[in-house]
Amino acid sequence: MTPPDYEYLRKLLKDHSGLDLSADKQYLIESRLLPLSRKAGLSGISDLVQKMKGGSAATITQVVEAMTTNETFFFRDKVPFDHFRDAIMPEILQARANRKSIRIWCAAGSTGQEPYSLAMCLKEMSAVTAGWRIEILATDLSQEVLEKSKAGIYSQFEVQRGLPIQMLVKYFKQTGELWQINADIRAMVQHRQLNLLHDFSQLGVFDVIFCRNVLIYFDQDTKINIFNRLAKATEADGFLVLGAAETVVGLTDAYAPYPERRGLYRPNARRAASARMPGAVAAPKVAAMVGL
Ligand SMILES: C[S@@+](CC[C@H](N)C(=O)[O-])C[C@H]1O[C@@H](n2cnc3c(N)ncnc32)[C@H](O)[C@@H]1O
Repeated sequence: MTPPDYEYLRKLLKDHSGLDLSADKQYLIESRLLPLSRKAGLSGISDLVQKMKGGSAATITQVVEAMTTNETFFFRDKVPFDHFRDAIMPEILQARANRKSIRIWCAAGSTGQEPYSLAMCLKEMSAVTAGWRIEILATDLSQEVLEKSKAGIYSQFEVQRGLPIQMLVKYFKQTGELWQINADIRAMVQHRQLNLLHDFSQLGVFDVIFCRNVLIYFDQDTKINIFNRLAKATEADGFLVLGAAETVVGLTDAYAPYPERRGLYRPNARRAASARMPGAVAAPKVAAMVGL
């Protein structure tokens, strides 16, 4: 790969997926894209670049998807699911007691382990959620991971990562070497392809948003932009859950940390109220506020 090829790919990935590669990540591109170029019968990455420059939208999609990191596992990091069961759900059950409906969004759901972990948590709470309308929406940039998520079929290795054995027995069926999550759990999760760089206001407003381990790949301005749009998609008394290495602190005041629960945030009440006031003045650009 020539230096101009690398620069072309860096810009293309930043524009299409938000992936912010530093100047020294040639090895990462090579390890992900050489297999792709071989599969397409091309002689290397420069040929892939030529195809993209020639306007091949399919090649661009393949390259962008191949460069996504889809690492995930059931009940990843455990703590967010404790927050969900012990802090988020009790509050939501109380706050929504009249309308009895909950909307949850996994904004980078990858191959499904995260939305299905939430679905299993909710199933375990069915004594208190009986009669509630619960929606879990799993979205991802990558169509390939969404297809796997929809199928809900996992290898022995995948079900051994994070999933308690009692849940495996209770919620999965074994077929040969593979395990499929039961149809009733699959039916709790809807899937949709969505790029977080694009407008997502059409999805409406959610009580809970899990947006974990995706913003770490983006630069600061992109994170700020996504946080501010996520805040508009979060109910005023709703929740945002981030990954262990992610935070809003120092980037936006659209959310405030939830006391003593790492990774859990709520829309900032003051800001939400001013956004609802008719004729409210737009909040000052956060990038300017933090001196970017
Ligand atoms: C590391 S996985 C995280 C999965 C899960 N949230 C977790 O924490 O286990 C990151 C996911 O983000 C997706 N992704 C990357 N860029 C994206 C974008 N611009 N919009 C939506 N999803 C994106 C990738 O396809 C990948 O499946």
